[in-house]
Amino acid sequence: MKMPRQISAAFLFTLLANIVVRVDSSNYASFESGDGNFRLQWTYNSNTLFFNMTCKTTGWCAVGFTTSADGKRMKNYDIALGGVTSNHSQYIFGYQSVSTVTPNKDPTPDYKLTAASEENGYTRVEFNRVATTDEEDDPHDVQFTKSAEVWIVWAWRNDDDASSGLTPALVHSQNGVSSKKYNLIMETMSNVPTSTPYNGASKVTLQSLTFVGTLFVLITFVTSF
Ligand SMILES: *[C@@H]1O[C@H](CO)[C@@H](O)[C@H](O)[C@H]1NC(C)=O
Ligand SMILES: *[C@@H]1O[C@H](CO)[C@@H](O)[C@H](O)[C@H]1NC(C)=O
Repeated sequence: MKMPRQISAAFLFTLLANIVVRVDSSNYASFESGDGNFRLQWTYNSNTLFFNMTCKTTGWCAVGFTTSADGKRMKNYDIALGGVTSNHSQYIFGYQSVSTVTPNKDPTPDYKLTAASEENGYTRVEFNRVATTDEEDDPHDVQFTKSAEVWIVWAWRNDDDASSGLTPALVHSQNGVSSKKYNLIMETMSNVPTSTPYNGASKVTLQSLTFVGTLFVLITFVTSF
């Protein structure tokens, strides 16, 4: 079949643009601590947030969310804490903190474990949570609405599991707070993969360059007939 050049090029352009958009929209949004020791990826579908969390530890690994003023000092954290025990059982618990003491377990747990694994010194926990819970039922739950912005906080403990629950002896070894608030749902809807600012920029540029490069080669190829 012989198509006029312009039509072929336009057709290819449309096809390619569609492929790029489709790949991006199924991407997980992602947050990384600057040192690469903690990473949270997430996606959103029908009022559910699906998380993929990694900590550089063989002990417990946790993420927390808060809408408090500066995100610090464990004020009103809604926490998911999980990992893998030495006998390979997997666990996750919801905790709620009000200050820098051992947090209490969520009386109405919302985080659901789908998988946990330990490999090469990293612990990975995959879990999900309904984005908006019944606020009257539990006023300490963070509500992930389409307009909610939250600080992302993280913590882990070296070596020790917390499969029987947190105690003061199992306090975190490392912790941190994001440098800005994130709208978790909106992050998953943007067309470019999100990341921490310093490597986010280079990723987007590289992706655009690859796209433009591929397009150029294809158009050159088509118009050379
Ligand atoms: C979670 O991330 C790891 C890479 O760190 C990947 O292998 C795994 O497939 C991810 N899980 C999901 C559900 O995307
Ligand atoms: C694994 O260890 C946990 C405590 O760390 C215990 O509750 C559980 O019963 C153990 N499972 C097996 C299969 O031994």
